[in-house]
Amino acid sequence: MKEVSKMSKRWALALSTALCAQFSGLAQAAPDGPDERAAKAVAAMTLDEKIRTVFGYFSTDFKGVARPREGVPFAAGFIPGVERLGIPHQQLTDAGIGVATQRNDKPRELTSLPAGIATAATWNPALAYAGGAMIGKEARLSGHNVMLAGGVNLQREPRNGRNFEYGGEDPLLAGIMVGEQIRGIQSNHVVATVKHFAFNDQETGRSRVNIKIDDAAGRMSDLLAFQIAIERGDPGSVMCGYNLVNGFYSCENDYLLNQVLKRDWGYKGYVMSDWGATHSTIPAAINGLDQQSGWPFDQSPYFNEALKEAVQNGHVPERRLDDMAQRILRAMYANGLMEHPVKIEPEKIDMAAHAKISQADAEEGMVLLANRGKLLPLTDSYQTIAIIGGHADVGVLSGGGSAQVYPVGGSPVPNEGPEGFPGPIIYHPSSPLKALATRLKARFIYHDGRDAATAARLAAASDLAIVFATQWTAEDIDQADIKLPHNQDATIAAVAAANQRTVVVLETGSPVSMPWLDNVGAVLQAWYPGTNGGEAIARVLTGEVDASGRLPATFPASEAQLPRPRLDGATLPKDARFAADYNIEGAAVGYKWFDKHKLKPLFAFGHGLSYTSFSYTDLKARPKDGGIEVNLKVNNTGKRDGKAVPQIYVAKNGAGWEAPKRLGGWQKLSLRAGESGDAVIQVDPRTLAVFDSKVGKWKIAAGDYTVTVATAADAPVRSVQVKLAAREFAAGGR
Ligand code: BGC
Repeated sequence: MKEVSKMSKRWALALSTALCAQFSGLAQAAPDGPDERAAKAVAAMTLDEKIRTVFGYFSTDFKGVARPREGVPFAAGFIPGVERLGIPHQQLTDAGIGVATQRNDKPRELTSLPAGIATAATWNPALAYAGGAMIGKEARLSGHNVMLAGGVNLQREPRNGRNFEYGGEDPLLAGIMVGEQIRGIQSNHVVATVKHFAFNDQETGRSRVNIKIDDAAGRMSDLLAFQIAIERGDPGSVMCGYNLVNGFYSCENDYLLNQVLKRDWGYKGYVMSDWGATHSTIPAAINGLDQQSGWPFDQSPYFNEALKEAVQNGHVPERRLDDMAQRILRAMYANGLMEHPVKIEPEKIDMAAHAKISQADAEEGMVLLANRGKLLPLTDSYQTIAIIGGHADVGVLSGGGSAQVYPVGGSPVPNEGPEGFPGPIIYHPSSPLKALATRLKARFIYHDGRDAATAARLAAASDLAIVFATQWTAEDIDQADIKLPHNQDATIAAVAAANQRTVVVLETGSPVSMPWLDNVGAVLQAWYPGTNGGEAIARVLTGEVDASGRLPATFPASEAQLPRPRLDGATLPKDARFAADYNIEGAAVGYKWFDKHKLKPLFAFGHGLSYTSFSYTDLKARPKDGGIEVNLKVNNTGKRDGKAVPQIYVAKNGAGWEAPKRLGGWQKLSLRAGESGDAVIQVDPRTLAVFDSKVGKWKIAAGDYTVTVATAADAPVRSVQVKLAAREFAAGGR
C-alpha cells in the first residue's frame, strides 16, 4: 500500500511538473531530431566544409588517381568527415547482394545473398528484411557506413544485364521487397541507397540512352516502385542513374529530382550520383543533385572547386549548398552514424549464421517452373544420378559487376569471363553435387556438359540426369538475346532425349527461353543462389523444403513478344546517342503488356509450383482505408507442408487502365499438410488509381472493380466484385 501511494505521489508530481512546464514554456526541450541536428551542423560549417561534404571520391586507385588514404581500400566511395563537428567519414560500399570489393588480388571475402531477383521471388518481405539486416551488418563490420544497396529498377527488358540486382517487373512487389531490404540494412546504422533513379532499365548505352516516358506512365510504373521502396525503407540516399530521361541526364533532371522526388514525395534524404553520372556543376546543383560520387569517374570534379566558385559568384545560391549538406547530414543523423562509428572488425562476423540467412532466402526464392510426372522432389530410388554442367561439382554462379561479392576461399572455377570489368566470373564454393550426395544414396557422376553427345551417353547410362544450366549476366553488358549461352540448349535437348528423367536447374539472372521444355521432367529456376546455393538447391530438389518461390517477372516465349523485340542501341557504335521509347508500353510493363496484347508467355509472372496443393476459399473484399481489404482462406489440401502465395489482382471494370489488371497485394503463408490459414491483404490504393498529370494527383474512379485471387498472372482462381467511390489523393500519398 505504502509503495503504491509513494508511486502515485511520484507520478502526480511528475505529471504536474510536466503540465506546469508545458504551460509555462519551461519544459526541457525535446532532444533535437535529425533535421534540427543537421541544421545546427550546417550552420556551423565553413564553405569549404560544406563543399567537402558534397564531393565524393572513389575509394580505389583509378585513372592514375590514388584513393583517399582514409578510405576503405577497394571500396566504392569515400567522403571525408568534419572532425571538429563530430561528423564521421562516409565510407561507401556496394551493394545489394552483400559487401562487394572492387577487383583486386585480395578482395574482402564475405557472405553473398542470392540475387535480388531471387529475393523478390520469395514474395516474403521478412526474408528481404533479414537479408538486408545481415549484409548491413557485414557492411558495418567491414568499416562502411553507407551501402549502395536498394536496386529497384523495373524489369522492362529481359536482356538487361542487371536484372539480377533488382526486384522484377511489378512496382508493388519490387517496391515492397526492396524497401524491406533497405529497412534491414539501415537497422545497422548504415545508410542505404535506393537506385538507379530512374528508368535505368538497360545497360546498352547506359550513359547515352535517352528514355522517353510520359509522366503518368512513369508514376504508375518505375517511379511507383521507387516511391513504395522509399516509403517502406526510408533510405538515407537515392542514387541517380546514368541515363537521360526525357532529354536530361538523370543526375541533373529537375523533373525527377526536384519535382517528383523532393517536392511530390517529400523526400528529405540526399541524391548521390552514380559513378560517372555527373555532367555539370550549376545545372546538376540547381536541378537536385546533392553529392557527386566517385571522383575521378566523371569528366570533371564538378562539385569541388567549381561548385565553390559557383556559390561564391551566386550562380548556385548558398542556401542550395546548405540544403545539399543538410540532406546528407540529416541522413547520417537519422541513421545514427554519429553515435555508432564504424570500425573494421570482420572477425566479429558470424559467417556460419550469415550463410544460413542467405540460404533461407535462396531456398524460398527458387521457383519450380515445371514438374511433369512429379519427378521432384527427388526420392531415394535412383542408383546413379548424372550431374551435368554448370560447374555443379564445385559451386554456384553469381552475377558480375560492381555488386560482386567474393566468397571465402575464392572462386572454385578459374575465371572464364572478361579480363576487366565487369569480370571476373565468380562461383561460390557450395557444390550442389556434394549437397545432393549427402542426402541421397545414389552414385553421382559429373560431366561438364560441354560436349552434348558425351553428356547424353552419361544420361542414358544413369537413372536420372540433372543438368545445371548457367547464364552469366553482369553490369555494363546486356544479353544479346534470351537464349541460354554456349550451346547449353543442345546439351539439355540431347540429355533429355537420352533420359526422360531429366531435371534442369537454371542459374540465370534473367528469363531464358526453353526450347527443350516439353521433353524434360522438371525445371527449377535457382537464379544466382548465393553463399550456400548448393545446399539450398539440394534442399529444394529433395523436398526438405517446399518449392515456394514465384516468378517476379514474366518469362517470354520469344523476343518477338516484347515491347522492343530488338534491344535499343544494340547495333549502334559504342559512343552513339539514341533514344528508347518507353511510351510503347508505358505503365504496361511485364505481365500487363502480355495481358493487354493477349500474349501467352512461356511462364507467367507469379507462376511457381509447390510440392503440395492449395485451395483458396471464402474470398471477400470490401473498401477500406481508401483501398480494399481482401480476406480469404488458404487451405493446404496436400500431404506435405508447404508455402502458398495467394496473389490479389485488381481490375477496373470497363476500360481506363494501361492494362486489364494489376497486382494489388499478396501474402505468403506457411501451412502444414491439411492446415488452413486466413489471409488478410490490403490493396494499395495506388494500384486502384490512375495518375492524372494535369492536376498532379492519383484518382480512383467510382465504379465496380473485380478482385481476383490467383496463383499467377495467368491463373485466376476466383473473383468478387467491389464498388468503390470516387477518390483522389496527392502524388505523394496513398
Ligand atoms: C554502378 C552502381 C555502383 C557504383 C559504385 C556504378 O558502376 O552503376 O550501382 O553503386 O558503380 O561502384
